[in-house]
Amino acid sequence: MEKHEISIERISYPMPCSIVGVKVNGKPNFLTVAWFSMVNFKPPYIGIALNTIHYTNPGIQESGTFSVNIPSSDMVEITDYCGIVSGRKYDKAKSFEIFYGKLKTAPMIQECPYNLECKLIQTVKLVSNELYIGEIVAAYSDEQYLTNGIPDMKKVNPIVLSMPDTKYFKVGEYLGQAREIGKKLISKKD
Ligand SMILES: Cc1cc2nc3c(=O)[nH]c(=O)nc-3n(C[C@H](O)[C@H](O)[C@H](O)COP(=O)(O)O)c2cc1C
Repeated sequence: MEKHEISIERISYPMPCSIVGVKVNGKPNFLTVAWFSMVNFKPPYIGIALNTIHYTNPGIQESGTFSVNIPSSDMVEITDYCGIVSGRKYDKAKSFEIFYGKLKTAPMIQECPYNLECKLIQTVKLVSNELYIGEIVAAYSDEQYLTNGIPDMKKVNPIVLSMPDTKYFKVGEYLGQAREIGKKLISKKD
């Protein structure tokens, strides 16, 4: 079958949605971020790619901290809202119950099932974006979202963003256990 060459813009597909929390000018602010990923195993580092135009960015440099909060699917409207209005004009923090952890300066969202508290390690300046790499110093969740002490994706029920058509989805069906299901093929190929 012949491949079609398609647009190279916004190719990440699909992506989980987060709401990043930062103190800006001494006040908590939140913005939606889909471009985030683990970038180091030990110690655990997470990277968030923010456009340089955002109100939030100077707050990360100033406080040296940020949080990554994972909203559940029933928070889709507020997640979208945090991604379409700026802290320059709107007080997004008043939509949430906020708590602080060990670092004291990274605002986190109580309503989100899963919260990561991060200390800024490195800023990589790219062309239109800045990649903020933070060490995860603590992770928080509620009993109702855990199975055997770890966040359970079915219970957390995260939001997935499809790109480049910018549509929100829930996570679909379980396929199998990673690093297990492929083992069947090892003996076949050897
Ligand atoms: C679903 C969604 C995902 C987004 N992901 C990112 C992202 O990964 N990086 C980014 O810089 N902006 C992203 N944005 C845009 C910012 O969240 C948005 O511009 C926000 O209003 C900036 O807030 P601030 O001005 O208060 O900093 C996203 C927006 C939406 C709706």
